[in-house]
Parts: sequence; structure tokens; C-alpha cells
Amino acid sequence: MKIVVVTGSPRKHGNSFAMTDAFIREAEQCGHTVKRFDAAFMKIGGCHACQTCFKTGKACSFDDDFNLIAPSILEADVVVFTMPVYWYSIPAQIKGVIDRIYSFCIAGKEISGKKYGLITCCEEDDLTVMDGVRIPLQRSAALLKWEMVGEVLVPGVLEAGDIDKTDGCKQAAELAHKF
Ligand SMILES: Cc1cc2nc3c(=O)[nH]c(=O)nc-3n(C[C@H](O)[C@H](O)[C@H](O)COP(=O)(O)O)c2cc1C
Repeated sequence: MKIVVVTGSPRKHGNSFAMTDAFIREAEQCGHTVKRFDAAFMKIGGCHACQTCFKTGKACSFDDDFNLIAPSILEADVVVFTMPVYWYSIPAQIKGVIDRIYSFCIAGKEISGKKYGLITCCEEDDLTVMDGVRIPLQRSAALLKWEMVGEVLVPGVLEAGDIDKTDGCKQAAELAHKF
């Protein structure tokens, strides 16, 4: 399968990146093709709601690095989002990518039928802290007719490296077997 991974953390050695690496390693071992985009290290703004998507030959008329990701999402079988929780919600770094999935809808692109997964973590010891990430993705996926295949939700990790005290990386690797 063609898997696109979009990350949202700005911490290269952080917790969600460690889980992302574990997922990708396992997915590639399973024979999947993985393309990874680290949104926090790309130039990606928000949606301008101009409704001119794909009219200039690119997904977004406000040409930035989203246009590098868009063709891969279009042809992917699977999209995996990985991010920490920021203020009970989706970090700004990846939200621009998620918002601009709108461009496919506006342009009438066929993107239904994909599978998606989520890998996320947060400081607090409470799984519901991750609802602010999980639920918008679940509802958006339902609208897009994407099937949620798995969620790796790891509470109680603050500093980079804390993930090693949990089974988060093991869970992320197991997610690769669900596609
Ligand atoms: C701007 C910011 C906001 C955060 N907001 C929350 C929050 O609302 N709830 C929480 O439990 N942790 C919060 N955290 C902690 C991160 O989710 C946590 O440190 C996580 O492990 C970071 O993942 P990373 O290492 O992949 O970047 C926040 C961290 C930052 C930098």
C-alpha cells in the first residue's frame, strides 16, 4: 500500500517522532511504500477559503509546501497523522495540511475510500486530553469516507524521550500491521 505520513511536531527527537519512526520502520518491513512529510519543517499556511483550488494547476493557489504533499495524499491508500496535543487540540504546524484537504473536495477530486491512522501523545495522564485531536479527525474522515484503522494514544509524556518509558513505539509499530 502507498502510505503518506504527515507529522506535526517541531521536535525532531520528540515523542511523536519516535513513534513515527517506529511506525515507518515496521510499515516498510511489511512491504508498504511510505512517504513522510514533516509539516513543522515545511512552509505551510492555512486555507484562504478562496475556492480556487486546482484552478491554477496546483492544489492550492496560494502556492506553498502543501502543494508538495497534495499529490501524494491524492494517490495514497493510507494517510497517517502523527502529532502531539497542543492546548487540547491539533498543533498549528499540521492543521494547515488538514484544512487544505478541503482543496480536494472543492475541486471534486476522488479521495474517498482511503484508510487513516493517528499517532498522538500528550503530557497529562488522561486519555480524553487527546479527544481534541481524535474527534476532529474522526469526523472529517467520516465526511471524506475514510476508514479509521487505528489510533495510538499515549498520555503521560512530556519531555523528549519520555516515550521510551511507555509502549508507545511498540503500539505505533503494531499500527503498521493494521493496513
Ligand atoms: C504549545 C504546547 C501546548 C501543549 N498543550 C498540551 C495540552 O493541552 N495537554 C497536554 O497534556 N500536553 C500538552 N503539551 C505537551 C505535549 O503534548 C507533550 O510534551 C508531547 O509529548 C510533545 O510531543 P513531541 O515530543 O512529539 O513534540 C503541550 C506542549 C506544547 C509545546
